Amino acid sequence: MGKFLNLLFFILISNFILSSAQNCNSYSFTNNAIYATCVSLPVQNSHLHWNYHATNGTVDVAYRHDGVSSGWVAWALNVDRAGMVGAQALVGLFESNGSVRAYTSSVTSYATGLQPGSLSFDVPAIRAESVNGDVVIYATLVLPSGRTNFNQVWQMGPVSNGAPGQHNLGSDNRNSLGTVDFVTGQAGEGGGVGGSLLHRRNTHGVLNAVSWGILMPMGAMIARYLKVFKVAHPAWFYIHIAIQVTAYGLGVAGWGTGLKLGSDSVGIKHTTHRNIGITLFALGTLQVFALLLRPKPDHKYRIYWNIYHVSVGYTVISLGITNVFKGLNILDPEKKWKNAYIGVLISLAVIAVILEAFTWFIVLKRKKEEKQQGPVGGNGAYEANGYGHGHGQAA
Ligand SMILES: *[C@@H]1O[C@H](CO)[C@@H](O)[C@H](O)[C@H]1NC(C)=O
Ligand SMILES: *[C@@H]1O[C@H](CO)[C@@H](O)[C@H](O)[C@H]1NC(C)=O
Repeated sequence: MGKFLNLLFFILISNFILSSAQNCNSYSFTNNAIYATCVSLPVQNSHLHWNYHATNGTVDVAYRHDGVSSGWVAWALNVDRAGMVGAQALVGLFESNGSVRAYTSSVTSYATGLQPGSLSFDVPAIRAESVNGDVVIYATLVLPSGRTNFNQVWQMGPVSNGAPGQHNLGSDNRNSLGTVDFVTGQAGEGGGVGGSLLHRRNTHGVLNAVSWGILMPMGAMIARYLKVFKVAHPAWFYIHIAIQVTAYGLGVAGWGTGLKLGSDSVGIKHTTHRNIGITLFALGTLQVFALLLRPKPDHKYRIYWNIYHVSVGYTVISLGITNVFKGLNILDPEKKWKNAYIGVLISLAVIAVILEAFTWFIVLKRKKEEKQQGPVGGNGAYEANGYGHGHGQAA
């Protein structure tokens, strides 16, 4: 069991570690400009190169979007919030003759047509070019009110009738946002500037998939199937508690990251995912407190407590798995992550079916033996299935 868990963690965590070791600094610009800092953005083959001038608070940027030869590209700072609305954008738009027109556009809604317009800060110079299949937008920005740290977004899309058309809504298009710090940027944190939101979403996904989606069902299986073995008394109880408390701890951490993501996300709300998450937290917390309030094994109300505990437990597991799938649809990672999770669930289900059959076999065999020896008082299958009372001193 321990080995299996280790493997599971390894597979899940290692898969989410972002690698963006692209070569930023070796790029030569057509005008031989040298930029002191460069970061490769986590999605959409984009790179941001810049020189920051502390004396006058300006920054010369070169936004490079590789492998684009039609449509439009844009990179923007968002001064007041995260995401697309409010973005102060530099746009590069392919003309029908193949040259790229550069202009600024202030994005005020999701329905923007990226119309040319001035930004909330000065852009004294802007131009763009298409070179070897890459688009580069060069600009000088006068950073507002001495700030050097901003949210940033970047994007590409098609042109229709000579004007920018709406971009796709795939995961790369939705994950092209983050932060940039023009002073410390060269430190190149983790997966690069802009990886932070993606990183937080992935952390949220891993924590919750492992806790609510995998550990909790495993903990329930331990309680249901280990119990039937006399030698597993009272060990099953402590293993069950240890797994569920660990799952709950990770789950609460994951839940917290989810609330923060929800309050930070502008425009798009995932109401069902959020409501299921809140319900899960409430029911999970109830289970932990109920543990402390459970009647003694031979108490006459213990059977009602058992019924309550098992039914809330199964509800938590069903909702937990449902919400992992809802989250996977929102996060929309590569297909293999969904497949990996489905694989884990199928393995657990197969193990459960085998153990279920085995449990009934043992229980019926014991019943038969009891019948042959005369009634001793146990209630066989009923007890083995979690509603009985003789759960040993620990429970
Ligand atoms: C800001 O300062 C830099 C370096 O001192 C200089 O090259 C640049 O022209 C200045 N930009 C503006 C808009 O004054
Ligand atoms: C392409 O067309 C635009 C306007 O339609 C014009 O400003 C630009 O100079 C043209 N570029 C070339 C290389 O002909």
